[in-house]
Amino acid sequence: MLGVFPSQKSFDKVPAMALRRKGQDRIKLLTVITLIFVVLYLYGIPSLPPTRPESRRKPGWQDRSTPRGAASNSTLGFQKILALSKGPSWRSRGLLAAAGHSSVNVEIPRQPHITSEMIDAFRHIGVKGESQMPHGSAHAWLAHLDLIKYGVSSGLDTFMIVEDDVDWDVSVKGQMALISDNVRKFLEVTKSDSSPYGRSWDVLWLGHCGEHTDVDTPRVEFADSTVPLAANYTGWADKYLKLLKPGNRAIQRAINPVCSFGYALTAHGAQRVLDWAGKGGSEAYDIKLMLGCKLNQLDCITVTPEIMHHYTPSKALGYHSLVQAENGKGASVAEETYETTMGATENIRQSARCRVLFDSTCVKKQRDYF
Ligand SMILES: *[C@@H]1O[C@H](CO)[C@@H](O)[C@H](O)[C@H]1NC(C)=O
Ligand SMILES: *[C@@H]1O[C@H](CO)[C@@H](O)[C@H](O)[C@H]1NC(C)=O
Repeated sequence: MLGVFPSQKSFDKVPAMALRRKGQDRIKLLTVITLIFVVLYLYGIPSLPPTRPESRRKPGWQDRSTPRGAASNSTLGFQKILALSKGPSWRSRGLLAAAGHSSVNVEIPRQPHITSEMIDAFRHIGVKGESQMPHGSAHAWLAHLDLIKYGVSSGLDTFMIVEDDVDWDVSVKGQMALISDNVRKFLEVTKSDSSPYGRSWDVLWLGHCGEHTDVDTPRVEFADSTVPLAANYTGWADKYLKLLKPGNRAIQRAINPVCSFGYALTAHGAQRVLDWAGKGGSEAYDIKLMLGCKLNQLDCITVTPEIMHHYTPSKALGYHSLVQAENGKGASVAEETYETTMGATENIRQSARCRVLFDSTCVKKQRDYF
């Protein structure tokens, strides 16, 4: 202030011409300062290193009209995300909390009743001799098919199915933008097709518990700062992860993915899965789906390593999954314990569930199921 405005005392002594020039100088100075701010605003501060994740460094982030922008919308680039859930529990409440934290919209349709006679009959469809399909697995299998039928009946063009104990990284939307870029690259989707992932697939398998990959596997690799180190990856697929460059994820055709934590379907893919998996004849739904992919009955794309995995309450609390419980492993302890004691999620570095419920990360150190 003092330097810019002449004090009242000196004011009288300054000739009129000099005063006007001072005024003009001030306007020039202000103009230059404003211009500098405008340039910095438009082009960014040049000396700052890029600290944004890979997904956000490219243009189109959050521009919903681009494929990668649509891939990071509230339904992750699909028309809907449908959760398979038997009803309100720690599973669904945690899922909705994680979804809210990630600004992801998940719909939990009411599950239609399935009789135990139907489940029992299904256990024997397509099986010669003794069924290898336990009751709980058959129940879960039929529930997946029911949810797919709901998607088909709703006329959805693409939809994703998640199991209600699924978990993902807090940066799932950024991951999906990268997955969109690379699925489109892998499938050579043309510019005229603006869909986030193209349409030439039946199943896009995002949440699984392991997949084969090798240096010879046709795949598109890309850097993703959310990928766990191979040394930190749990499950039988850790040896395959070592065949990817550290910090990379890959898009490839499915070879051997298992666990149906989260997968997307195109409308035609949904019909093909109903046709294939409706024939029964395996020990579990995810195995049947994997076989469909492997035997080229279904056109499946996998993301390796997975970006979704199930969250499990602490084993110390005596936790068994719903399917395990129904298969005779015994019931789980009271619900409330699961909601006040933090569990863990494999292979997800920044679990959305643990962030929102316990303000923590909760990477599982080792697998404690099969
Ligand atoms: C997200 O993007 C997909 C693909 O463009 C679109 O079908 C879906 O309606 C979008 N979701 C929302 C909530 O706008
Ligand atoms: C791997 O695990 C160690 C120890 O739990 C942890 O400090 C590190 O951040 C993890 N790194 C990655 C990339 O997952």
